[in-house]
Amino acid sequence: MFCRLLSLLVAGAVLAAMPVWAESPPLSEATLSCLGCHEDLHPGMVEGWRASRHARITPGQAMQTTGLASKISSTDIPSGLQDTSVGCAECHTLRPDAHADTFDHFGYQVHVVVSPEDCATCHATERKQYGQNIMAHAYGNLVDNAVYADLRTSINGVLQPGEKQLSAKAPNNATKAESCLYCHGTKLRFDGLASKDTAYGPVMLPEIAGWPNQGSGRINLDGSKGSCAVCHTRHRFSMAEARKPYTCKECHVGPDVPAYKVYTASKHGTIYSAENNDWDFSAVPWEAGTDFRAPTCAACHISLVTKPGGTVVAERTHALSPRLPWRIFGLPYAHPQPKDPQTSKIKNAAGLPLPTNLDGSPASDFLISAEEQDKRKGNLQAVCLSCHTQSWVDGHWQRFENTIEVTNEATATGTGLLAQAWENDLAEGLPQNSSIFDEYIENVWSDIWLIHCNHIRFASAIGGGGDYGVFADGRYVLNRRLREMHDWVESRLPQQ
Ligand code: HEC
Ligand code: HEC
Ligand code: HEC
Ligand code: HEC
Ligand code: HEC
Ligand code: HEC
Ligand code: HEC
Ligand code: HEC
Repeated sequence: MFCRLLSLLVAGAVLAAMPVWAESPPLSEATLSCLGCHEDLHPGMVEGWRASRHARITPGQAMQTTGLASKISSTDIPSGLQDTSVGCAECHTLRPDAHADTFDHFGYQVHVVVSPEDCATCHATERKQYGQNIMAHAYGNLVDNAVYADLRTSINGVLQPGEKQLSAKAPNNATKAESCLYCHGTKLRFDGLASKDTAYGPVMLPEIAGWPNQGSGRINLDGSKGSCAVCHTRHRFSMAEARKPYTCKECHVGPDVPAYKVYTASKHGTIYSAENNDWDFSAVPWEAGTDFRAPTCAACHISLVTKPGGTVVAERTHALSPRLPWRIFGLPYAHPQPKDPQTSKIKNAAGLPLPTNLDGSPASDFLISAEEQDKRKGNLQAVCLSCHTQSWVDGHWQRFENTIEVTNEATATGTGLLAQAWENDLAEGLPQNSSIFDEYIENVWSDIWLIHCNHIRFASAIGGGGDYGVFADGRYVLNRRLREMHDWVESRLPQQ
C-alpha cells in the first residue's frame, strides 16, 4: 500500500514537470494529493475535470475578464483560492463545518455533496438566481403538498385487491427515489461512516441516504436546495452542454411535460438538428444570428442573448421566471405564474393547496398580476424579435393565449363531469373527503389536464410540433377521453 502511494506521488511529480502542466495554472498541494489517488481510481472523473475551465483558469485570472464575458460573479473570493486552479480540494473541502457529510479523508476534511452554496464562493449570482427558480424548490413543492401526495401514492403505490376497488400500498423509499424524486430531488441524509474495502485498503466513507440523485430540488447535506449538476454535469461543468436541448430532455420529455418532444418536431428544433455542428456554443455573450440561427431551450429561457455589436437582447437568468408570464403546466388549469417559487404555500378558495379553483378561476392572491405578466412577456419576446418581426410574434402569441383559454375550457368540462360522479356517489372524491386520484374516472380526469391539455399547450407555446397538439396525445385524444368520461358517468346515473 505504502509503495503504491509513493509511486503515485512520484508519478504526480513527473506529470507536474511536463510542459502541458507548465502551461496550465498551478494546482494546490491538496489537489495534487487527491489526484495522486483519484487519477488511477476514477480516470473518467479526473479527465472530465481536466477538460473543464476549472482546471485551466484560476479565479484570479478569471477575475480579469470584466463585462458581459465575465464568468465569475463573486467579488469576495478568498485570496487562498485565487491563484490555483479550481481542483478537487477547492470544491470538496469548502465550508467543511456546513456539511453533515464532512469526513476525515487522508488528512483532508472532505465532503461528497458539493452544493450550490459551495459554488456560490465564486458564482454568487447564479446561486442566488437559481434559489428563485421553481426548479430549486421541486422537492418541497411536491412532498409538502397534501393533494400532490395523493397523486404520488396513486401513481407509485403497488396496487392490491381491495374491497370495492384496488388499493395502493404506500411506496417505499427506493421507489420514491427513482420515480418522482428522480427529477424533483431527494432529501439527503447522512447516516454515519462505514469502512469500505478499496484499492488503498479499508477506508472510512460516508453513507448517504437518498444518494445518488441529481433532482432539480435536491435537499443537500448543508441544508441548501438543488444541484447545479442538473444542467452542468460533473466534472466538466460546461456551459456549452447546458445550452443544448439534450440537457433539459432528461426531465422535460413528457408526456406530462412534453417540451423536448415538441421542440425536436418544431422548425427551431429541425434547424438545430441540421446545423448545430456549425454553431458556436462557447461564445459569451451569445449572438443571435452569428453564433446560432435558431433558439435552443436555453436561448429562449436562460441565456444572455446579444445582437452583433453587443446590444443586450435578454439578460441571463438562472431564475427562469423573469421570462415566464404563464404557468402552462395545468394544476389543473393553466394560470399566471406563482409569485413565490415555493408553491406548497398556495391555498385556493376551497383551502386546497392548488393555484386554481376547480371551476377554473385562479387563486389570484398567490399569482403574479397582469402587469407583471406583460413585463415578462416583453422579456421573452425580446428574444424572438432578434430573428422575427413583431407581427410574426404577435400572431404566434394570439394563438398561444387562445390555446390557454380553450384548453382551460376542456379541463372545466372534464372537472364538471367528475364533480357529477362525486355528487352521485359514483366515485369518492372531495365531497367524501377522499383522494381525488385513486379511481378510474379520476384517472381519466387527470389524463385530460395532465397529459392532453399540457401537450396542446406546449405545442402551442414552443411554436411547432403540430402532431403533439393534435393526434399525438393532443386534441384528438383529449376529446375521445372527454367522451369516455361522459359515457361512463351517464351510463351509471340513476334512471329518471
Ligand atoms: C490515498 C489515496 C486517496 C487520497 C489522497 C484521496 N482519496 Fe478520495 N478516495 C480514495 C478512495 C480509495 C476512495 C473510495 C473510492 C470508491 O469507493 O470507489 C475515495 C473516495 C472519495 C470520495 C467519495 C466518497 C464516496 O463514497 O462517495 C470523495 C468525494 C473523495 N474521495 C475526494 C477526495 C478529495 C477531494 C481528495 C483530496 C483532498 C481525496 N479524495 C484524496 C482515495 C484517496
Ligand atoms: C467545481 C467543483 C468540483 C470540483 C473541482 C471537483 N468536484 Fe467532485 N463533485 C462536485 C459536485 C458538484 C459533485 C456532485 C454532483 C451532484 O450534485 O450530484 C461531485 C461529486 C464527486 C464525487 C462523487 C460522485 C461519484 O460519481 O461517485 C467524487 C468521488 C468526486 N466528486 C471527486 C472529485 C475529484 C477526485 C476531483 C478532482 C479531479 C473533483 N471531484 C473535483 C464538484 C466538484
Ligand atoms: C473557487 C472558485 C470556484 C468554485 C468554488 C466554482 N467555480 Fe465554476 N468557475 C470558476 C472559474 C475560475 C471558472 C472559469 C472562468 C473563466 O473561464 O473565465 C469557472 C467556470 C464555470 C462555468 C463555465 C464553464 C464554461 O464552460 O464556460 C460553470 C458552468 C461553472 N463554473 C459552474 C460551477 C459549479 C456548478 C460549481 C460548484 C459545483 C462551481 N463552478 C464552483 C471558479 C469556481
Ligand atoms: C433533473 C431534472 C431537470 C432538468 C435536467 C431540467 N429541469 Fe426544468 N424543471 C424540473 C422540475 C422538477 C421542474 C418543476 C419544479 C416544480 O414545479 O416544483 C422544472 C421546471 C422548469 C420550468 C418551469 C418554471 C416555472 O416557473 O414554471 C422551466 C421553464 C424549466 N424547468 C426549464 C428547463 C430548461 C430550459 C432546462 C435545460 C436547460 C431544464 N429545465 C432542465 C426538472 C429539471
Ligand atoms: C422526468 C422528470 C419528472 C418526474 C419523474 C416527475 N416529475 Fe413532476 N415535474 C417535472 C417537471 C419538468 C415539472 C415542471 C413542468 C412545468 O412547469 O411545465 C414538474 C412539475 C410537477 C408538479 C407541479 C409542482 C408545483 O406546484 O410547482 C407536480 C405536482 C408534479 N410535477 C408531480 C409529480 C409526481 C406526483 C411525480 C411522480 C408520480 C412526478 N411529478 C414525477 C418533472 C418530473
Ligand atoms: C436549468 C439548467 C441550469 C442549472 C440548474 C444551472 N445552470 Fe448555469 N447555466 C445554464 C445555461 C443554459 C447557461 C448558459 C447561459 C448563457 O448562454 O448565457 C449557464 C451558464 C452558467 C455559467 C457561465 C456564465 C458565464 O458568464 O459564462 C456559470 C458560472 C453557471 N452557469 C453556474 C451555475 C451554478 C453555480 C449553478 C447552480 C447554482 C447553475 N449554473 C445551475 C443552465 C443551468
Ligand atoms: C422559441 C422559444 C422557445 C424554445 C426554443 C423553448 N421554449 Fe419553453 N416556452 C416558450 C414559451 C413562449 C413558453 C410559454 C411561456 C409562458 O407564457 O409562461 C414556454 C414554456 C415552457 C415551459 C413551461 C413553464 C410552465 O409554465 O409550466 C417549460 C417547462 C419549457 N418551456 C421548457 C422548455 C424546454 C425544456 C425547451 C427545449 C426542449 C424549451 N422550453 C424550448 C418558448 C420556448
Ligand atoms: C435565433 C433566431 C430565432 C429566435 C431567437 C426565434 N426564432 Fe422562431 N424561427 C427562426 C427561424 C430561422 C425559423 C424558420 C423560419 C422559416 O421556416 O423560414 C423560425 C420559425 C419559427 C416558427 C415556425 C412557424 C411555422 O409555421 O413552422 C415560429 C412559430 C416561431 N419561429 C416563433 C418564435 C417565437 C415565438 C420566438 C421567441 C419566443 C422565436 N421564434 C425565436 C429563428 C428564431
